[in-house]
Amino acid sequence: MPLAVLCRALGPPERLSLEELPPAPLGRGEARIALRACGINFPDTLTILGRYQHKPPLPFTPGVESAGIIAELAPDVAGWRVGDRVITRQRVGGYAEEIVLPAAQLIPLPPGFSFAEGAGFAVAGITAYHALVQRAALRPGETLLVHGAAGGVGLAAVELGKLLGARVIATASSAEKRAVARARGADAVIDYTAEDFVAAVRRLTGGDGADVVFDPVGGEVLVQSLRALAWGGRLLIVGFAAGAIPALAANRILLRSATVLGIRAGEASRREPHLAEAALAALLAHAGEGRLRPHIAAALPLARYADGMRLLMERQAIGRVVLLPGGEATPAGP
Ligand SMILES: NC(=O)c1ccc[n+]([C@@H]2O[C@H](COP(=O)([O-])OP(=O)(O)OC[C@H]3O[C@@H](n4cnc5c(N)ncnc54)[C@H](OP(=O)(O)O)[C@@H]3O)[C@@H](O)[C@H]2O)c1
Repeated sequence: MPLAVLCRALGPPERLSLEELPPAPLGRGEARIALRACGINFPDTLTILGRYQHKPPLPFTPGVESAGIIAELAPDVAGWRVGDRVITRQRVGGYAEEIVLPAAQLIPLPPGFSFAEGAGFAVAGITAYHALVQRAALRPGETLLVHGAAGGVGLAAVELGKLLGARVIATASSAEKRAVARARGADAVIDYTAEDFVAAVRRLTGGDGADVVFDPVGGEVLVQSLRALAWGGRLLIVGFAAGAIPALAANRILLRSATVLGIRAGEASRREPHLAEAALAALLAHAGEGRLRPHIAAALPLARYADGMRLLMERQAIGRVVLLPGGEATPAGP
């Protein structure tokens, strides 16, 4: 029977268990996917604690994105074949050896992508695209400041920002993280744990500030980001990886004629599916032509799900961390 990680009671990753589950029945329009890689996203670490906005009923298997091979198709499914390599997106169920999903939800694995890269592509990519293109309308020549720039969504924002023609300034907490952000396209990097990033951004922009700030970190970083904005700038609230959800000074929004935008890429996709379709079409075109490729920092066997989640919770992940059902641990992905 296929293995799956199960959350039977809310708690830290060590409370999850790896169990054999009977294969799910295949309904009309559905596909069974033999999963080869499962992406770990920061929200997974919150969902198992009951601290994320989406609270699935217990028990559940975490994991919102994976990649694998179609193993079985319902007779009414057209457009896919057994053996096709696909990316899956779902609200739960990704940390497993197999998953059953509506075939209409499947995404083709871009040519040349490993399963690990496929499992680290869609969520961060769609989040960055939704934030930068569909909400902030980032324009070529504008300055984009990306916080947590070596994290999953941060690195996707750095890469996409460059592709959109922006000048990208990246913040990150370690020399290794800053080196990866630079290698992935950042024009300038700032150690926001050691220097005042507002002063650094002003220095780097001739005093103007950043046109767009992409913030998945929250806390004091979000508070100070208002001071780093240029006139008419847009502040994208993407997440609170640092934990604290702060209040923002309304006078600073007024003084800079700024716009503060809340980003919920997954919910936006559910409410307005055309947004996710447009984002995916653009991302797959970039991936197909070799312009976008996720940075896989760690690939661990499925049984090491807790170690993988801990890499994100302890701020050690650089780019994406994935689990490999039936796979071997490798330092840099298969
Ligand atoms: N709005 C949306 O639609 C959406 C979609 C996906 C994810 N998110 C959110 O975006 C955030 C990042 O997700 P992710 O998957 O990219 O996570 P990630 O890979 O773990 O990256 C988070 C980054 O935040 C920084 N950070 C600062 N303080 C931290 C702390 N105490 N613990 C962990 N990281 C800390 C780290 O960079 P430094 O070490 O360089 O500071 C880290 O690289 C999360 O809050 C997540 O919920 C939002």
